[in-house]
Amino acid sequence: MSEPVLRVINLKKIYRSRRRGDIVAVDNVSFSVYKNEVVGLLGPNGAGKTTIIKSIGTILRPTAGEIWVDGADAIKNSRAALERVTAVLEGNRNVYWRLTVKDNLELFAGLQGQSLRSVRSYIDELIEMFNLKEKVQEQARALSRGMQQKLAVACALVKRTPILLLDEPTLGLDVETSYELRWILKRMAEQGQRTILLSSHDMNVVQDICERVIIINHGRIVVDDKIENLKRLFTASAYRFEIEGHLNQTQEQKLTEQFDLIKISRDGPRTVIEAELLDDQRVYEIIDVLKENGCRLESVGKQYPDLEEIFLRVVKGEKR
Ligand SMILES: Nc1ncnc2c1ncn2[C@@H]1O[C@H](COP(=O)(O)OP(=O)(O)OP(=O)(O)O)[C@@H](O)[C@H]1O
Ligand SMILES: [Mg+2]
Repeated sequence: MSEPVLRVINLKKIYRSRRRGDIVAVDNVSFSVYKNEVVGLLGPNGAGKTTIIKSIGTILRPTAGEIWVDGADAIKNSRAALERVTAVLEGNRNVYWRLTVKDNLELFAGLQGQSLRSVRSYIDELIEMFNLKEKVQEQARALSRGMQQKLAVACALVKRTPILLLDEPTLGLDVETSYELRWILKRMAEQGQRTILLSSHDMNVVQDICERVIIINHGRIVVDDKIENLKRLFTASAYRFEIEGHLNQTQEQKLTEQFDLIKISRDGPRTVIEAELLDDQRVYEIIDVLKENGCRLESVGKQYPDLEEIFLRVVKGEKR
């Protein structure tokens, strides 16, 4: 692979709070993003995603670590970094309320030092792409929330920085607008114009447009891999057993004591056991336990987890 366009090295952010004491929001996080990659940043509430995005976008000063955006030192030389990276924050309000859609776009292009002439046709393209044509003369404050969010992303794109950071870009959007935005981002990435790092709680969004995910929990990276690899990895170890009838408390207890990552639930007249078995041999051990307890096994099979299940297992596994 080529050189990374974004490098985060041992990033640390401690918020000093008199009331809550020191909060270690980001703890020694390191990762790289390569040209034209679209990487999803996942994690439960408070995991540190926004803090990471704000640090890269030079909105926040980290406590320690290094951040390099397209060769520029984002901590020591934020001006140079800002020519290379744009951040659209969650519930974004970086557009100018009193300006029209078009004026906003032109302003953002101007802020980047692009001449209006050189950028005009690109702005028209963005207006078209974001379906904002009928609204070009409306003031931003008169737009619906979803439209404002689209405008915010469009304004970020007009800056044409090689790196784009999006914090929860589809939060609060209706289904249609969310799909529209996904489609635009996907197209941007496919055309090889951008490198994108985006955070989201919507696994469908991440699954749709990201090739790779970084999962953060309590300020630390717990997974950094291609979604494809994760699916393969988790499929290999995820089993589902179906049993006739219901287990009694002692039987359930026995299973949960012996097997770490196990979930027992009822499905009508059946009991379903979902288990994470890192060693194939353990499949037989479960079957033995079931036999000993007089349970009648109906079926055993592999599970095919989606990103959401993978995420939950990773985050839950962390807690143990
Ligand atoms: N300005 C601040 N002052 C003090 N603590 C903060 C501040 N901003 C964030 N935190 C704390 O830092 C931690 C990480 O917060 P952050 O907003 O980065 O998480 P997040 O992953 O974006 O969460 P969410 O999914 O809810 O948006 C949390 O414990 C949060 O309470
Ligand atoms: Mg956040």
